[in-house]
Amino acid sequence: MANKFQSVKGFYDVLPERQKLFRFFEKIALDLLDQYDFREIGLPLVEPTGLFVDSVGSFTDIVEKEMYSWKDSLNNDQLTLRPEGTAGCVRAVIQNNVTYNGSAKLFYRGAMFRHENVQKGRQRQFHQLGVETFGVSAAAADAEQIIFLDRLWKKLKLKNVSLIINSIGDAVDREIYRSRLIEYFEKNINTLDDDAKRRYKSNPMRVLDSKNKDMQEMLNNAPKLSDYLSIEARKHFNELQELLIKNNINFQVNNRLVRGLDYYNRTVFEWITNELGSQGTIAGGGRYDYLVESLGGNPTFACGFAIGIERIVLLLEESQQLTTFSPDIYIVNNGAGAQAFALTIAEELRKEAYKVSVNLEETSFKSQFKKADKSGAEICLVIGEEEVEKNIIQIKLIREKGDQFSTDYSELTKNIKKILN
Ligand code: HAM
Repeated sequence: MANKFQSVKGFYDVLPERQKLFRFFEKIALDLLDQYDFREIGLPLVEPTGLFVDSVGSFTDIVEKEMYSWKDSLNNDQLTLRPEGTAGCVRAVIQNNVTYNGSAKLFYRGAMFRHENVQKGRQRQFHQLGVETFGVSAAAADAEQIIFLDRLWKKLKLKNVSLIINSIGDAVDREIYRSRLIEYFEKNINTLDDDAKRRYKSNPMRVLDSKNKDMQEMLNNAPKLSDYLSIEARKHFNELQELLIKNNINFQVNNRLVRGLDYYNRTVFEWITNELGSQGTIAGGGRYDYLVESLGGNPTFACGFAIGIERIVLLLEESQQLTTFSPDIYIVNNGAGAQAFALTIAEELRKEAYKVSVNLEETSFKSQFKKADKSGAEICLVIGEEEVEKNIIQIKLIREKGDQFSTDYSELTKNIKKILN
C-alpha cells in the first residue's frame, strides 16, 4: 500500500479561495508601498543561525525554542530558516552597502518559520510583509510607517483594529531600569512563576509581558520604564504622538508594551484586533537604532514593522470580502458547438479586460446556473444550440432578479459595457 502523506503540522496548503485573499491583500499593499516609495528587497529564507542569536536575542522565545536550525552536513555551517525578516534585512543592508548614499526605505515579503504551538492565527510557516526604514532618526519615519498601516487597513476595509504604542527608551535608560526591575522581582520572588524565575535576571522586561493571572497585580505595581526615559527619548516619543494626532490616527499608550524581540529602542507599536481570539496582533514593530552597528555596520538609525498576512486573511474572510474576486461574467453552455462558442466569446471579453469564467463541465443548465450564481458574477451569458445556430447570446443579469435579454454576437461587447461600466 502506498504511503499517504500529510502536510507537516503547522505548515498549510492554501487552497484557491483563500489564495485569492492573499493576492487581494498583496495587490493593495504593493500599490500602497509604491505610493510611499518603499522599495522591495528580496531576502533568503536561510541565514546563519548566529544572525538571529545576535539580533533577536538569545533569551527570547524565538531563539530559545522556536527556530528551525540545523547543521549543514556538507560544510558544517549552522543554519536557520528565518523566523523573522529584520535580521536578514539588516544583514543585507550592511553586506550590500545599501545606505551608502543616505537613507533607504525597504520592504520584503514571504514565508517565516517558527516552531510555535499551533492555533488559530498561529502557524509554524506564516507570511509577513515587512517594512524597514534606515538612516532616519526623526519620529517622522516612525509616524510615516504607522500612517501607512492606518491607510492600508482602511483600503482593506478592516474594522475593529487599534493601535498601541510605547517608548522603551534608549540603551542607557533601559540599563538603569533593568536593574531596578531585577531588584523588584527579587523582592517579589514568591509571586513569580517558573518561567519568570528562569528569565527575570537575563530578560526582566520580558517578564512584564506574562499573561499569568496570578502575577498581574505584582506586574502592575512594578517600576515603569516610562519613569526612566531620557529627555531625548521622551521628546522623540512626544513628537511621534503629535504627528499621529495631526494625521488623525487614534492610538493608546500602553506602558507595558515591550515586544518579544531584543533589538528595539524608543518606539514600539502593535496593531491589534479583538476578532482573532488570543492571536490578535496583526502587525508589530518599532525602532532599532543599535542593531545595524551591533551586526557590524556603521551606526544607522532604523525602524520598521511586519504584518502577519495570515491574520489579515482571516479578518478578510470573516468580513466576507470575497466578492472582490468574483468574475464579472460567467458563461453557461450546453449542446453541440456551445462550448467552443463560449470559449471564443470569453476571449473577446477578456481582451476588454473583463474577468470571465466559462463552465467547462457537461452538466445541465440548472446546475450551471447555480454555479453562476455562486461565482458572484454580475452577468451570466447563456449559450445553447439555438444560440450557436443564430449567432446570438442570452444575457442574464443575475443580481437583478434574473432579467434576461438576447443580443447579437456582434453587439455583445457593446451591451456588456453598457451594463458593467
Ligand atoms: P513579530 O511581532 O515577531 O515582529 O511579528 C510580526 C507579526 O507577524 C505579528 O504581529 C503577527 O501578526 C505575525 N506572526 C508572528 N508569528 C506568527 C505565527 N507563528 N503565525 C502567524 N503569524 C505570526 C517581527 O517579526 C519583527 N521583525 C517586526 C519588525 C520589523 N520590527 C522592526 N522591523
